[in-house]
Amino acid sequence: MQNKRREFLRASALLAGGVLLNQFAFAGGKHSSVDDTIRIALIGCGDRGTGAAFQALSTTAKVKLVAMADAFQDRLDNSYKLLSDKFKDKVAVPADQRFVGFDAYQKAIALADVVLLTTPPGFRPMHFEEAVKQGKHIFMEKPVAVDAPGIRRVLAAAAIAKQKKLNVVVGLQRRYQANYREVLKRIQDGAIGDIVGGQVYWNSGGVWVKKREAQQTEMEYQMRNWYYFNWLCGDHIVEQHVHNIDIANWVKNAYPVAVQGTGSRAWRTGKDYGEIYDNHSVELTYADGAVIYSQCRHFEGTDNRVDETFQGTKGRTYLSAGNQGILWDQSGKQLFSHPSKGNANPYQTEHDELFAAIAKGEYKFSDAERAAKSCFTAIIGRYATYSGQVIKWDEALRANNSLFPEQLSWTAMPKVLPDANGLYPIPTPGRTKVI
Ligand SMILES: NC(=O)c1ccc[n+]([C@@H]2O[C@H](COP(=O)([O-])OP(=O)(O)OC[C@H]3O[C@@H](n4cnc5c(N)ncnc54)[C@H](O)[C@@H]3O)[C@@H](O)[C@H]2O)c1
Repeated sequence: MQNKRREFLRASALLAGGVLLNQFAFAGGKHSSVDDTIRIALIGCGDRGTGAAFQALSTTAKVKLVAMADAFQDRLDNSYKLLSDKFKDKVAVPADQRFVGFDAYQKAIALADVVLLTTPPGFRPMHFEEAVKQGKHIFMEKPVAVDAPGIRRVLAAAAIAKQKKLNVVVGLQRRYQANYREVLKRIQDGAIGDIVGGQVYWNSGGVWVKKREAQQTEMEYQMRNWYYFNWLCGDHIVEQHVHNIDIANWVKNAYPVAVQGTGSRAWRTGKDYGEIYDNHSVELTYADGAVIYSQCRHFEGTDNRVDETFQGTKGRTYLSAGNQGILWDQSGKQLFSHPSKGNANPYQTEHDELFAAIAKGEYKFSDAERAAKSCFTAIIGRYATYSGQVIKWDEALRANNSLFPEQLSWTAMPKVLPDANGLYPIPTPGRTKVI
């Protein structure tokens, strides 16, 4: 078994080195595994990254965290302390393997067999591309991009990852959660017939906000308060609601051909909230005529709802991240109900399954393409609400509308800037052009 694993890790390195596929440069350095320990690099040492590293280090595989990268020293230091306190024997990240800055990711990726990509999503295409180029197995958080050019990069790198047999798991953890897996299996076996409609929701009170501090450059401010800037976050329809939209696509086993919707800023109107909306209502229309309604909002003091319902020609279903998964026939008779107790934590399951496959030398996971397509569904939802136009999938996917800054440095300027009062331009349907 160990030999098989060593072979597998070495084969990935050889592929990256262009020995078997010659279009990529070998990153060099400590690249191929010298023993059977699986070496991990964490790129983006924030809340989720620290959590993902915690989960990776909690698997039964023989693993070590060997490199860390973050844009900011304080975020990296905090994460390093938490992880090294908790996993004394499994964190081996000397100071010269803790990298800070916009180019930190390349150096950390080079030292690992598996990389955890957990920065804000605007950087994911660049980081995923690099990890694939260097021949690494990958866990990456959703969203995988925030605009059409980013999605195209991820789709292209996903195809190369498949050729190289690099396992790629994406943190759409409902795909690794038992109630969803059980219900989806039954839907795909025809339990409720063809899906003709549905409703998916992420209605909550919203998330954190970071105030501007004296001495910050515009780039640092946007990087710290990243949730509210589209080049980093993609708006909350992409950043959060993608989870539920992904379930719609999974249930339909397809992606929408067109999307239309409406949205605005009703609650978060001040200058601390960048440029994003706080509500989106979107219709996803599929090629067979099915329409799934998607709603997300960040309003304090209103009802919370995060779940999915779908109607089929022979019955209906209800699903939620709280382990619920119920199927009924048309008469209302319950066909299946997933047990609410005794369920594994899907955040742990995605790492358990990924590291088990890598440890056995198996190629089992290629989540990037379907995740990119679900992220793109959410992105065109944003294009629809910002523009007020019907957005067609194929046309939108060709758009050259990158939100990414021309240059990356602490003094470089992002593309969207505040006015003299500190307020950012807000998209206006009918006037805003997205494509
Ligand atoms: N699957 C889930 O349920 C779930 C839950 C929470 C977050 N997430 C996802 O995880 C990602 C991170 O979210 P978070 O809550 O941890 O945010 P966070 O702000 O806590 O962490 C992001 C980290 O990335 C760092 N970073 C930013 N740009 C970087 C770069 N270019 N290179 C290296 N490091 C960089 C930041 O400094 C920060 O430490 C997001 O994509 C988010 O959607 C997923």
